[in-house]
Amino acid sequence: QADQAQEVEVVNRVADSAVQDFVVTPPLWLLAELTYRCPLHCVFCYNPLNYAENRNELTTDQWFDVMRQARKLGAAQLGFSGGEPLLRDDLEELIAEGHRLGYYTNLITSGVGLTEPRIARMKELGLDHIQLSFQDSTKEMNDFLTSTKTFDLKSKVAKLIKQYDYPMVLNVVLHRYNLDHIDRIIEMAIEMDVEYLELANTQYYGWGLVNRAHLLPSREQLQRAEATVNEYRAKLGNKLRILFVVPDYFEERPKACMNGWGSVFLAVAADGAALPCHAARSLPGLTFPNVLEDSIHDIWHHSDAFNRYRGDAWMKEPCKTCPDKKKDFGGCRCQALALTGDATNADPVCSKSPHHDALQTIVLHAQPTKNGVPQTVTQPILFRTDANSMRFA
Ligand code: FES
Repeated sequence: QADQAQEVEVVNRVADSAVQDFVVTPPLWLLAELTYRCPLHCVFCYNPLNYAENRNELTTDQWFDVMRQARKLGAAQLGFSGGEPLLRDDLEELIAEGHRLGYYTNLITSGVGLTEPRIARMKELGLDHIQLSFQDSTKEMNDFLTSTKTFDLKSKVAKLIKQYDYPMVLNVVLHRYNLDHIDRIIEMAIEMDVEYLELANTQYYGWGLVNRAHLLPSREQLQRAEATVNEYRAKLGNKLRILFVVPDYFEERPKACMNGWGSVFLAVAADGAALPCHAARSLPGLTFPNVLEDSIHDIWHHSDAFNRYRGDAWMKEPCKTCPDKKKDFGGCRCQALALTGDATNADPVCSKSPHHDALQTIVLHAQPTKNGVPQTVTQPILFRTDANSMRFA
C-alpha cells in the first residue's frame, strides 16, 4: 500500500510538471467500463445515449491484456464500472488480475448483484474500494429515478460493505427532485456509518442533458442545499466527509475536465473503444481507437482522438490568450459541444465565453413558472432503457 501511494505520488508529480509543458504523461487512472448492460434505468446516466448500439463486450482475456498494457504504461488506479459491472460473471477474475498487477482497484456499483458470497470473494481477491450509489433517501424517489425497486436491496448492500470492512463511500447524484431532501440524505449516510459522502450534482451530458428540463435546479434550491451541507460539515467534522460538487452551470470558471484531455484519464468502453472522457463519444469528427486494433501505448501517445485537445494548440480565443488556460484547459469539450455546437469553443461555464449569457438564461429559467408558480415540465422524462437508446442510434 505504501509503495503504491508513493508510486501514485511520483506519477502525480510528473504529471503536474509535465502538464505545464504539455508533455504527454502516463495515464494514471484506467476506467474499465465493463458493460453497458444495467438493471437500473437512471434518468441522468452518463453512458452514451445510443449505448444499446454497442452490445459487444471484451472477453476476460482481452481485459487482462488492457490492464497489463495500461499498468506497464504507468496506470496506478483501476476502476470497474459500467453499466453495472456486477453483471459480468468474470468480475472476480478481473479484480484478482488487477490486484496481482499492483493496481489500486475500485468497484463503482449500484449494488444490484452484490451478494454476500461475491463481496467475500472480492475481499479475498484484494478489491480495495467500493463506491455504492443511492438515488435518494426515500424509497419512492430512489425507485422512481431508477425505474426499479432497489432501495431495500441497496440498503442491505450498504450493510455488507461495512461488514466486510470497506470504507463506506456513498455516491448520491443530486438534482431538482432530491436537493430538498439533502438533510435526510445526510442523515441516511450517518445511519449507514458512511465515511465519505459524495453529493454530485447532475452534470448535463447524455441522459442528464436530455432530461435537463426536469433535473436542473434553481439557484435558490442549490444555495439552500449547500447551506445545509455546510451546517452538517460544521457539526460532524471528520466523522463524515462530505463532498458537494456544484453543477458546472452555476459556476463562473470552468473545471479542468479530466484534469486536461489525455492527461491522466483513460476509459476503455465495453466494446474496446478507448476514450479520453466518459462522454467523448458525443463529439463529432473523432474516431476513437479500439484496444482490439491498437496498443494502449499507441492509443495514448499517437492517436488523433487522444491528441486532438491535448495542450493548447487547438484553442481559439478567449482560451488561447487566457492566463488560466494551463489550469482549466478551456473547461470541458463535451460541454462546449453540447451548449455551443463546437467542441473547440471555450466551455460556456466560463464568464469569458461569448456563450456564457445564454447559459445564465438557461439557469434562470430552470423551471417553468407562471405568475411565480412552478409549472410541470410537459416533455416526458426519458429513462435509460434499451428501447429509448435505440431512438438515438
Ligand atoms: Fe468530455 Fe469533459 S466530459 S471533456
